[in-house]
Amino acid sequence: MQNKQEASAFVICDDLYKIFKVADIEVMALQGLDLTVGRGELVGIVGASGSGKTTLMNVLGGLTMPSAGQVIVDGANLLKLSTRELTTYRQVEVGFVWQQGSRNLIPYLSALDNIKLPMTLAGRTGREADRRARELMEKVDLPHRCDHRPIQLSGGEQQRVAIAVALANEPKLLLADEPTGELDSTTSDQVYDLLKRLNEEDGLTICIVSHDPTIAQHVQRVVQIRDGKLASETVRRPRVKSRSENAEWTAKDVSWEDHFEELIVLDSAGRLQIPKQYREELGFQNRVEMEVTEGGILIRPAQNLEQTSSQAEIQIEREIRGEESEAPSGLLARLKGRK
Ligand SMILES: Nc1ncnc2c1ncn2[C@@H]1O[C@H](COP(=O)(O)OP(=O)(O)O)[C@@H](O)[C@H]1O
Ligand SMILES: [Mg+2]
Repeated sequence: MQNKQEASAFVICDDLYKIFKVADIEVMALQGLDLTVGRGELVGIVGASGSGKTTLMNVLGGLTMPSAGQVIVDGANLLKLSTRELTTYRQVEVGFVWQQGSRNLIPYLSALDNIKLPMTLAGRTGREADRRARELMEKVDLPHRCDHRPIQLSGGEQQRVAIAVALANEPKLLLADEPTGELDSTTSDQVYDLLKRLNEEDGLTICIVSHDPTIAQHVQRVVQIRDGKLASETVRRPRVKSRSENAEWTAKDVSWEDHFEELIVLDSAGRLQIPKQYREELGFQNRVEMEVTEGGILIRPAQNLEQTSSQAEIQIEREIRGEESEAPSGLLARLKGRK
């Protein structure tokens, strides 16, 4: 099963870390992130602001190098590409759509010329480039807007042209960072429908970052990033909606519906994240108790926290460093005396 999954894995992020250093302060944008995206998959990526979504997109797009970990896209290890290979990767193999229209499109160029620009940079010009650009305008349902400049297009139309620009050099992977962030819900749905169509008809692998909680309805799978790490995954599963009352029902008497199930990610070292909301509601601190129950594990806040090793460790460290102990008798002395 694992081998089969790995064989069809198109994007593999393995234990990714990204540390940004600003002045003397280090920010850990990615903290051991693991993510696998299958070939031809349409994945939604959600998470609070600052959780590392854009950093992940930039790493996948070859725009930012991770501080540690591996990124493999279609068999190529991005960390091992030469400068020239990386430029080709960014220009041809991956397409980007950003949230801000201004970042996607050049304001003084027509929609058609915006699409031709990345082709020109990759060395494709002339009639062939023109034909491809017009074809893409049809694909995004805007054949009548070829000569319009961005300012003459609505927000939704701008994002659809941006998708056409991203597809100009026929990338294998499309990365969209909050492409509907500035759009109303009806216009957002049109953009999602387009992305879905590109995925289904052309088999394009697509990752969409979104703050939109309804994204699950538009994609096959949603992963949630929390503090730079994959925390949970929402999968679409079929469940029985209704079944014939007849005792002799057969498969065709059953109707199914999709429902969404959120699964917590357990990494290879056995780590999982307990959502902050649960930790706060249940009064979790830095130690918990685990109890194996029938078919599962019960996790609850640890009792008598002041006696846990974390407190003892801090105390011992203080004593070893010769700092003044809070406890008059000295924990180290007590531990030594115990033997
Ligand atoms: N170029 C950068 N320099 C310094 N810190 C950065 C940089 N890019 C992102 N960060 C920090 O990394 C964290 C994750 O940011 P980002 O990936 O943009 O999150 P998101 O897209 O989920 O809002 C944030 O704390 C952010 O301030
Ligand atoms: Mg972002």
